[in-house]
Amino acid sequence: MISIIGSGQVGSAIAFLCISNELDDVLLVNRTKDKAIGEALDISNAIPVNSNVSIHGTDDFSKISGSDIIVITASTGVYLKDRTEMIGAQVNMIKEIANKIKKYCPSAIVLVVSNPLDVLTYVFQKETKLSRNKVIGIASSLDTSRFRYLLSEKFNIKQSQISDALVIGEHGDSMVPIFSRVKINGKKVVEMLTNSEKEKISKEIQNYWKSLRLFKSRSQFGIAKNTFDVIRSIIKNDELIIPASIVLNGEYGENDISIGIPLKINKDGVKEIIGIKLDESENELLKKSSQTIRNYIESL
Ligand code: 2OP
Repeated sequence: MISIIGSGQVGSAIAFLCISNELDDVLLVNRTKDKAIGEALDISNAIPVNSNVSIHGTDDFSKISGSDIIVITASTGVYLKDRTEMIGAQVNMIKEIANKIKKYCPSAIVLVVSNPLDVLTYVFQKETKLSRNKVIGIASSLDTSRFRYLLSEKFNIKQSQISDALVIGEHGDSMVPIFSRVKINGKKVVEMLTNSEKEKISKEIQNYWKSLRLFKSRSQFGIAKNTFDVIRSIIKNDELIIPASIVLNGEYGENDISIGIPLKINKDGVKEIIGIKLDESENELLKKSSQTIRNYIESL
């Protein structure tokens, strides 16, 4: 069973993908019981013919017991200018959720989606003391999707012509797009962009969520698809390499923070933390990004 804590736009979109692709039974948990039940009733009609999967909604946390995967999308409110705006309330919320998961379902693999992503992934892992391989913050793959999209728009090409696009670091203003690895039709993208064009694209990735909010209330489908891909990889034991947030223990020269870096995912959660070669400026930016997250953690 997949339990999804928070049945707002993101939680319900993840549930819809899991159900319509028959991954497993889904439980939507929301403080507002009717919201969870309503979304579950709606998504129930997307269960494919002859399928065994089911979806239910509840406000009763104890029902998560027995879940293989728990996804946390809950939020205490809406932030407007910065993902860290409600950090105090969000940290309290994740601690409360962590204690309930520890009580009812301590062996699940947990995907954190709520913001500020890296701080909450870190706090959740420390609070539950679950193995760090079972606590994954999903966001850098969304930033990577945005990187690919912006490159495809800039060069007026299909996304399939782009290889090795990658964004690592904080899911926040210090995120680090790795230009040095990207190729378009086999040609290095760094040979096709000036420094100011690179800076412009980096800013656009950072601010993508704000630009999107000019048109709709908040991002939903991109994060849902990126989270679904991880759930699918775990359930099907189909290895997936994506950047996501994990508590570091010396990798990339960092300790005691959670940050987005490339991970290999399989049925056990994180099978491997992948080291990649960065150029000097990218290394520097990753250090700054780590320090940004560390400062937030120390301010708690
Ligand atoms: C996003 O990047 C707001 O973190 C959310 O869309």
